[in-house]
Amino acid sequence: MEIKAPRGVRDILPEESWKWAYILNVLRDTSSDFGYSEVHLPIFEHTELFARGVGDTTDIVEKEMYTFTDRGGRSITLRPEATASIVRLCIEHNLSGSGAPVKVWTAGPMFRYERPQKGRFRQFWQIDAEFLGVASPMADADIITLSIECFRRLGLRNLEVVINSVGCPACRPAYRDKLVKYFKSNVSGLCELCLSRIERNPLRLLDCKNENCSRITDNAPASTENLCGECSEHFAATIKLLQESEIVYKYDKKLVRGLDYYTKTAYEILSGELGSQNAVCGGGRYDNLSETIGGPRLHGVGFAAGIERIALVMEQQQCSFGEEPKPRVYVISHDSSDETVQKKVYNLTMKLRKNYIAAEMDLTGRSFKSQLKSAGSSGVRFACIIGPEEVRVNNVSVKDLTSGEQISVNEDNIIEYFKIFFEQKGCK
Ligand code: HAM
Repeated sequence: MEIKAPRGVRDILPEESWKWAYILNVLRDTSSDFGYSEVHLPIFEHTELFARGVGDTTDIVEKEMYTFTDRGGRSITLRPEATASIVRLCIEHNLSGSGAPVKVWTAGPMFRYERPQKGRFRQFWQIDAEFLGVASPMADADIITLSIECFRRLGLRNLEVVINSVGCPACRPAYRDKLVKYFKSNVSGLCELCLSRIERNPLRLLDCKNENCSRITDNAPASTENLCGECSEHFAATIKLLQESEIVYKYDKKLVRGLDYYTKTAYEILSGELGSQNAVCGGGRYDNLSETIGGPRLHGVGFAAGIERIALVMEQQQCSFGEEPKPRVYVISHDSSDETVQKKVYNLTMKLRKNYIAAEMDLTGRSFKSQLKSAGSSGVRFACIIGPEEVRVNNVSVKDLTSGEQISVNEDNIIEYFKIFFEQKGCK
């Protein structure tokens, strides 16, 4: 029986992979312009990192982690997100030891056992940026602005920035109590999941998409009305910075996010092109995460954006992915049954490639006519034609596929010929 890929994972084929490379390049350049350095994280970590970091009453930890016991008897989990790993990395390598801020980003696959649907996969890619060691709202604004700039450079349109403050350990317990009290007196109409969460994680009820629950949560107390002085000032200052940068945002009192480490700022960037999985990006502040996983006091704020979702929105909005990498020259044999001709085709192609001129050849032994047809449809500008006569006089017949013109160039001058042509055209 044919073996297929598991449910919820995707193969990224050549027709799409160059677009991904474009997206990742833009994200890399933007993060670098904002002063963030790249880090590479392990794909798997000790399960405890996520259980403690992300929170053991979250959907991710309760239901979605790919966890297994390794041969040494350790509980290992494929990373469902990158923030906990980045904070671990920062503590483990003492990156913030001198008190200097740490600004890092990473990109790669994450794993969550979710119900697959449009824009939701079990293996998906994220770009994740984290700003550690700074308590100031300017770090929040830095992160939010970086995410918006990434999307601006990629050409995404009609995005909505939604923001809230979820408070901190000083003000959240009282707010939590208020929520429990409110929901307990409004149980009728709540879905099963919400009912089971009233005591365990009442904040999560606020973003339940069930219509009845949503109606009930509309009137639930807002966290921003229950913040301590510090959280309240932080939220106001963050908003002010966004306004000063003319960032359009919407305050959403029901935005709580699905990970437990957030303190103060929580935000998302939404797109109408994505259906129910409408967040291209989510993030916020997490000032207690480091201590939760056994580290020192370390402020942090960051975001992650889904690459599949970015690509989906870009396709739907017909954004540019730059230029698809293609060969510039196609080398064709006039007589593929002639071994010396074939050898010259092979050697010339390699010579072009080693001189940074992207070249392709046809190794299938097809007729001259079909090779020329392939060259034409591949979009290359030139075909280099080699036949017994070209071998004899050490020449290459160069056919310009745009004009149809054909000239003879001595093989010793061929690299020079193309270099001059492509340089004049502003190509490599
Ligand atoms: P998150 O909201 O769980 O946050 O994920 C961030 C983004 O990853 C989402 O907005 C979405 O674009 C994408 N994403 C999440 N799950 C899936 C999925 N199953 N399939 C496709 N795309 C998905 C975090 O992961 C936090 N670590 C963000 C953060 C960084 N907070 C602070 N720093």
